Amino acid sequence: MTEVLSIERASLDQLASLLLERAGLKITPDGYYGLRLALHARMPALGIADAAEYVGRLKQRAGEHELRSLIPLVTVGKTEFFRDTRQFLAFEKTVFPQVLAKARQEMRQAKLWSAGCATGEEPYSLAMVGLEYAANAASLDVWATDLNPAAVDNAQRGYFPARRLVGVSEERIERFFKPVDGGYQVNPEVRSLIRFEGQNLAAPVWPQVTARSLDVIFCRNVIIYFDQPTIIGVMERFFEVLRPGGWLFLGYSESLFKISTRFEMVEVGGTFAYQRPTGTFRATPAALLSPRPSSPPRSATDVETALRQLKRQQAAPLPAPPPVTTPTPAAGLPPAPSKPQPKRTPVERLAEVIDAIERGDFPKALRSARRLVDDEPEDLAARLTLGNVHALMGNVDEAREAYRQALSREPLCVEARLYLALAAMQGGQLDEARTELTRGLFLEPSLAIGHYLLGQVNEQLKDKDSALRAYRNAINQRKQPWHDLIGHFPDLPRSNEAVAQAAQFRLAALSER
Ligand SMILES: C[S@@+](CC[C@H](N)C(=O)[O-])C[C@H]1O[C@@H](n2cnc3c(N)ncnc32)[C@H](O)[C@@H]1O
Repeated sequence: MTEVLSIERASLDQLASLLLERAGLKITPDGYYGLRLALHARMPALGIADAAEYVGRLKQRAGEHELRSLIPLVTVGKTEFFRDTRQFLAFEKTVFPQVLAKARQEMRQAKLWSAGCATGEEPYSLAMVGLEYAANAASLDVWATDLNPAAVDNAQRGYFPARRLVGVSEERIERFFKPVDGGYQVNPEVRSLIRFEGQNLAAPVWPQVTARSLDVIFCRNVIIYFDQPTIIGVMERFFEVLRPGGWLFLGYSESLFKISTRFEMVEVGGTFAYQRPTGTFRATPAALLSPRPSSPPRSATDVETALRQLKRQQAAPLPAPPPVTTPTPAAGLPPAPSKPQPKRTPVERLAEVIDAIERGDFPKALRSARRLVDDEPEDLAARLTLGNVHALMGNVDEAREAYRQALSREPLCVEARLYLALAAMQGGQLDEARTELTRGLFLEPSLAIGHYLLGQVNEQLKDKDSALRAYRNAINQRKQPWHDLIGHFPDLPRSNEAVAQAAQFRLAALSER
């Protein structure tokens, strides 16, 4: 442990600011012990003995990969009891009663797994719900696992400072906790339902889990840190270990879009969960149950071509009127059928939406964008553009909803992060804007416009150093290839050079102050 403690403070400060900048993770000195543990785990993996050298390695471009390995080790703070109320209510009111009833009928335990349980708030919440349905250790087993041994230790202890109980009702605190040393200790009754263990979800085999043995898996806010092949592997294994009819809950911005088609997406209590299919025992299928095959992503060039075409049509002289000699239909003959309108492609329809936006005809843009999204629910560009129309009309909540829908289909969608940040800036929620931008930049570090907007947010937050750093980052992207943004938002700069110039201007103005 002395080795852990010997890591210098300066390296931890640097690491904390790097994590804030790249991943939006706020780690205050209170959380430095967790950073030390994470460094202690990762440095030997790279054969590095000096923390300053490790942080230097992370800052390099090639450090991105290592950052992805480090982040899961330092994200343990991000959890809470009954996190995502709607999802928990769906579990509590619909899924769990069915699962427990079925297990009782089959005279076996109901088995739940909190995969990536962090400091335990999630499995304890599950166990509390279980007790409210009169489950006990004979009828319910909650398995809670995490990669981070420090988190598992904490979880096992079951002691939480008072501030961590936000979101737990008075009745539940009264029933399930005992006040201890200014905080709260979980009662043995709750603790007795849970088995805590260290476990790496990314490992190719999980020897501790039997096929078709689990009723519900909660794996929320974990896979966001994995790359696609890892997510696919984990989902395959989740599928195998779930019973037919078993449930999988992911985090609100995580989805199986382009990951797995084996699960069914099911609407339950106003939220979505995944279910291993079975002939019986199903909740209400959602409209999204059988998603259409995803439409190919719209490249900006496709849409621009369609837009140019549309403009040419609009600018072209009106076609000559039909000759006046057209004979009237002979009596008794049916009128000539009207010429069928050629079906417009989604790209052409999106071009029309963009055209309406550019002409400032937002009501028309909104109508067309809505129709397009209804017809093409998997079209990311259409959905993001719908959000942008809402944002332009000042409907911030609707805009956010559209971006979140985009994220639920494509969790790694950088544009959704960028537009969410713009909506947050519009609503004056600067901390949220900063978080979204740092998340977007973590996914796409060369996104010049993201750095530039982050500079603006930091400036408004009076964080001058971070603003300067963000503007410099924006300027440094000058030579990087331009990232075409999916979804149309007017008046955003359209080249790295234009962004760099704007950033240069802000940098000069800020440096003078
Ligand atoms: C943000 S927390 C989520 C906690 C909880 N599921 C929730 O939603 O509140 C993510 C957790 O995933 C864990 N984790 C990350 N990678 C993991 C892996 N490969 N195997 C197991 N756990 C992992 C981290 O240690 C961290 O505790």
